[in-house]
Amino acid sequence: MSEPKKIGEVFLAGKNLTRVFGHGDKKTIAVNNVDFEFRRGEIISIVGESGSGKTTLAKMILGLLNPTSGEIFYEGKPRDISSHARRRSYWQNIQAIFQDPFSAYNIFNRVDSVLMDCIRLQGGTKLSPEENFNKMSDACKFVNLKFEELTNKYPLELSGGQMQRLMIARIFMLNPRLLIADEPTSMIDACSRATILDMLLKLRDEINMTIVFITHDMGLAYYISDTVYIMEKGLIVERGSADEAILSPKSDYTKRLIGDVPKIYEPWDFSASAAETAPVTEKAVIGNGVIGNAG
Ligand SMILES: Nc1ncnc2c1ncn2[C@@H]1O[C@H](COP(=O)(O)OP(=O)(O)OP(=O)(O)O)[C@@H](O)[C@H]1O
Ligand SMILES: [Mg+2]
Repeated sequence: MSEPKKIGEVFLAGKNLTRVFGHGDKKTIAVNNVDFEFRRGEIISIVGESGSGKTTLAKMILGLLNPTSGEIFYEGKPRDISSHARRRSYWQNIQAIFQDPFSAYNIFNRVDSVLMDCIRLQGGTKLSPEENFNKMSDACKFVNLKFEELTNKYPLELSGGQMQRLMIARIFMLNPRLLIADEPTSMIDACSRATILDMLLKLRDEINMTIVFITHDMGLAYYISDTVYIMEKGLIVERGSADEAILSPKSDYTKRLIGDVPKIYEPWDFSASAAETAPVTEKAVIGNGVIGNAG
């Protein structure tokens, strides 16, 4: 588990955020009057079933979709991404990784050009080849990849787990304040999944990044988050510390979601004595159970 953390001030907030798609009979209120506050260094999970509005909310936060109504506040002021320069500066601080790592890359760009793009985005156009190499190789080291082995490869020549690690290496280089990770582990095996989660936690612990983790998996949310938001049909139906939201849920929906995770209160360790002595509120125990179990 990670060290005790410093959770700082609120730097990103949403007020009455709503997004509607379509009209008339085809109208969907994908996100309905949602409020949130994200603090520096906080790990937040947004949990909900398919279609509950998680990705739509993430896209509004990223500035990829406009809210139908409501507002986002960045560093206490209404967010302004109306010009190209303002969007660019916002995206230096708010970044995302998505479920399908393959779709995130241009298949004709080699790994080194993926990483060089990050250096350019950071404004590092005047660095020497050696400085560029060191930056790229440090980022690869952070995610246990060897830059020398990857440099001439194309994204399709990497495994799903390597690809996700490369995504995290990019984030390490871009060093945003907020990372939104939308189901980043659902396409990879359980072993790579645990590694990816550890790396995300390391981003928070080492550079105090705020991480919003979007998932279907209640056990995973419990394991990694400080704060949990539960979404149902566009609404936030539960919000609180991981302990409050998941161990003492108020909404029937959360209770039902927890009921759907048969292992949430059981330790993953198969030995009977370990099971008897394991405290049920121990995050690591519950988390291991559900991560190991997630399908
Ligand atoms: N571009 C769009 N046009 C029309 N409807 C959309 C669009 N994007 C999302 N929706 C609808 O909005 C609702 C919320 O979708 P969203 O993708 O945010 O859900 P989600 O919680 O991310 O689901 P999943 O867990 O499956 O990724 C769904 O009913 C979806 O069909
Ligand atoms: Mg989604």
